[in-house]
Amino acid sequence: MRQPVIAGNWKMYKTVKESLEYLSNFQAEVKNEGVETVLCAPFLALSALTEKAEGSGIGIGAQNMHWEQEGAYTGEISPTMLKAVNVSYVIVGHSERRTYFSETDEQVRLKTKSALDHDLIPIVCVGETLEERENGNTQEVVHQQVVEAIQGLRSKEVSRLILAYEPVWAIGTGRSATEKDAGDVIQWIRKIVADQYDQQVANEVRILYGGSVKPANIDSFLSNQDIDGALVGGASLDPDTFTQLVKAAS
Ligand code: G3P
Repeated sequence: MRQPVIAGNWKMYKTVKESLEYLSNFQAEVKNEGVETVLCAPFLALSALTEKAEGSGIGIGAQNMHWEQEGAYTGEISPTMLKAVNVSYVIVGHSERRTYFSETDEQVRLKTKSALDHDLIPIVCVGETLEERENGNTQEVVHQQVVEAIQGLRSKEVSRLILAYEPVWAIGTGRSATEKDAGDVIQWIRKIVADQYDQQVANEVRILYGGSVKPANIDSFLSNQDIDGALVGGASLDPDTFTQLVKAAS
C-alpha cells in the first residue's frame, strides 16, 4: 500500500510572515489524516516553517537546490543547508526551472542523487509540453526525463523518491489533464521504473499528478489506482482550499 502524498508548491509566493500565518491556519484544520502532507515554500521561510511544524506531521520542502554540498555558486542553496534547518523534501526538475532557468536532465539527475544522499526526499517532476503532446511525443519525452533522472540510483533509493507527472500545458492554466490521460502517463512511468529496475520498485514508488488540481477535480485523480496524490500550485496557496485537498486524500 502506497501512502498518498499531497504536496503544495507555493512557488514564488509568501513572505516569512505570510508563511507562518498560513501554517497556523492549516495546522488548526489538518490533523493526522493518513496522508503525507508537504508544503514546499520559498527558501527564506523554510527555517521558520520547520520549527513551527515540528511534531505536526506536516513535512516542509524546498523548491530547488544545488547538488553540491558547498562551494563558489553565488545565489545557490545546498542540500546540507536544507538539512540543517530540518527540511525533508525538495522539488527537483519542475518545468518552470527547466523552462526559465534552463535546467537540464543531467542537472535533475545530479540533484535527485544529491537529495537522496543527504536524506532529503526528492519530488522529481516530469512532463511534456503542449507541442510535444500534440505531436504524439508524450511517452518518449517522459521516458527520457524519467530514465535520466533515476539513472544510476539503487532500487532502495528509487522506492524512496517521489515522482510527479506535471504536463506543462496543465500548469497554472486551469486546464487539467483528465484522470484517464494522467493515469495513462503515470502507468507508463511505472512501467519505465519496472523496466529499469523491477516490478517491486515500480509498485513502491509514489507518483503524483500535478497541473490545475483543485477541490473540484481531486477526487477523480485519486480514484485512479496509479495516481498516489497531487503536487498542487495555485490551490495550495490558501490553507482552507489546501485542507480540502488533503482531506480528499484521507
Ligand atoms: O508544482 C505544481 C504545479 O506546477 C501545478 O501548478 O497552479 O497548476 O496547480 P498549478
